[in-house]
Amino acid sequence: MKKLSSLLLILLLLFTISQLHSQQTYVLIGWNDLGMHCSNQDFSKMAVLPPYNNVYAVLIIKQTGQLPQIVNVGYKIEYNIPNNTTSITKTNFWTYAQELFGLPNPLPNNIGLTGKGLTGLLDTVGNSFRVVGIPNTPFTDTDLVNERPYQLIHLAAKELNGSTVLGYSDVVIPVSNEIGCVQSGCHSSEQSIKNEHENVNGFKYNQPELCARCHASNALGTVGIPEAKSFSYRMHDQHDFIQPINDRSTCYKCHPGPNTVCFRDVMRDALTCQNCHGTMQVIAQSIDNGRRPWLDEPRCGATTCHGSTYSEQPGKLYRESKGHSQLYCSTCHGSPHTIFPSREANDNLQSIRLQGHSGAISNCMVCHSSPPPGPGPHGKTYIGIKKTSNEVPKEFVLNQNYPNPFNPVTKIKFGINKSGFVRIKVYDMSGKEVKILLERELNPGTFELEWDGRELPSGTYICRVEYSGLSKSIKMALIK
Ligand code: HEC
Ligand code: HEC
Ligand code: HEC
Ligand code: HEC
Ligand code: HEC
Repeated sequence: MKKLSSLLLILLLLFTISQLHSQQTYVLIGWNDLGMHCSNQDFSKMAVLPPYNNVYAVLIIKQTGQLPQIVNVGYKIEYNIPNNTTSITKTNFWTYAQELFGLPNPLPNNIGLTGKGLTGLLDTVGNSFRVVGIPNTPFTDTDLVNERPYQLIHLAAKELNGSTVLGYSDVVIPVSNEIGCVQSGCHSSEQSIKNEHENVNGFKYNQPELCARCHASNALGTVGIPEAKSFSYRMHDQHDFIQPINDRSTCYKCHPGPNTVCFRDVMRDALTCQNCHGTMQVIAQSIDNGRRPWLDEPRCGATTCHGSTYSEQPGKLYRESKGHSQLYCSTCHGSPHTIFPSREANDNLQSIRLQGHSGAISNCMVCHSSPPPGPGPHGKTYIGIKKTSNEVPKEFVLNQNYPNPFNPVTKIKFGINKSGFVRIKVYDMSGKEVKILLERELNPGTFELEWDGRELPSGTYICRVEYSGLSKSIKMALIK
């Protein structure tokens, strides 16, 4: 009897310990929908775009022995923008909003067109959280002169009725007032732009005018009047003389802009706006040929770009598409035009906090509590890659994997002496490619890639690392 009760006691103890170990933690990942939002500052003459920003987030429960779980029911996410608590002193939007947008009542101070303020709660939509229409400006409370387009919004997840912060994140809430009609030196004043409408009936010369009132805009959801044509068509058609036609400086005349430089992502040095969008003329003509502005945009998955392995969902924009297990592409890669890693330090904070380095969320263990039971996003099966040292080897080196033989996890260590594109593939002994482990640009240094080979049969495999026109291989033995 005594034996039995002490056995029970031990079992109870073990159970308690296992409970302690299986504690759940939360991972909160946020992003902005577009990578940049533009807004006018002065609305006394005209409005192209109002202050209006959108932030998304997912909350993931990480629990020992279980797959990650995306949750939103029973939780809330609060937001605030530190050192940016008011907008009414930074733009005259609230003076003109009712008239410009035909609202039944004046808009309360610091409340945007969807009823959202500068602090508040995200709404739950599908399996994620979202806030649409935050009326923030690019100015902080302490500096009303210099635009800060890449400020951070603070997100904090809590239980619906709780006050404990379960997870938090700080992500960029980008906004710029650099809509360059006058700033770019092209038009002498906003009034002069308006005066070009002298033959248009009902045009408000002496009151503020919303361009999208007549020119359809899917950004604002206005249908406009047919003869005015869409706002995007008019803008790009009317200005297609701007030179040089293939340079981003042309786009930065209106899209923010020489100071903001909104396109800041990993592709910024390799590509310019026109590589993905076409020239001004192409943008306008494609609308005449049926392209829907804002809704039909370039795709990562285009055959001339990354191809079908890396594609958006059919018929959906990048920002609406989901990849790995119902996660938005942006969860791991960031917003359009901000694809990680970004030029702006603030954009990279979240990745660095979650996995120790910038770039796409590539470490499975950010969300998984143990090495995942199969391939992850895009069929990738490595667990993570980390830079083990900044020490730059004299030449390209690839070490023997360790442990070797392995079951099922092993580490592949390599070093490169210059920045370059690295591709790591696994082949079986017949020379058939069985896995792509890595395809990405890396800075010089020494790296360690952890790979989980559990879905392959036991056997000898060849790991081949390609870098800058060179390649090196090792043999690895998986023994299950
Ligand atoms: C009251 C309706 C209305 C509003 C508001 C309006 N437009 Fe227009 N706009 C038109 C119409 C109609 C045309 C076509 C005129 C024509 O074909 O002669 C037009 C034409 C244009 C063109 C092409 C001009 C050309 O010579 O081909 C541009 C550019 C333009 N609008 C910009 C703007 C901007 C910028 C605003 C906001 C300040 C604005 N519009 C607001 C009705 C409007
Ligand atoms: C003369 C000002 C101006 C220039 C120059 C300009 N844009 Fe635009 N663009 C606008 C405005 C204004 C809108 C918003 C239209 C709306 O609200 O629908 C816009 C919208 C867009 C859109 C979204 C709508 C759509 O048609 O899909 C894209 C994409 C775009 N611009 C790309 C570019 C690129 C790329 C360049 C450079 C080649 C460029 N723009 C140059 C003013 C400009
Ligand atoms: C690598 C390709 C690529 C480059 C380069 C690029 N864009 Fe885009 N752009 C896209 C994609 C993809 C979308 C659609 C994103 C979405 O909303 O899902 C887009 C959408 C847009 C939109 C519509 C708003 C939005 O985000 O959906 C505008 C405006 C725009 N781009 C302007 C520009 C300008 C201006 C530049 C250069 C400064 C530029 N883009 C460079 C790929 C690119
Ligand atoms: C769970 C995280 C995750 C999700 C979700 C995800 N990806 Fe990826 N993606 C990655 C990782 C990790 C890589 C490989 C980057 C590397 O090699 O480090 C990658 C690579 C890519 C690449 C290739 C980049 C290159 O260097 O050639 C493209 C393009 C891409 N993803 C597009 C998408 C699209 C589109 C979606 C949504 C349908 C998506 N991804 C969803 C994690 C993710
Ligand atoms: C940003 C978070 C995140 C990252 C990073 C991530 N996963 Fe997942 N993973 C999830 C979520 C959420 C699920 C969904 C679990 C479910 O369906 O219940 C999941 C499910 C899986 C599954 C189960 C089968 C499936 O596809 O639904 C596998 C296998 C998997 N992940 C592998 C990986 C691998 C390998 C990596 C790293 C290369 C990785 N994951 C990185 C969030 C992530």
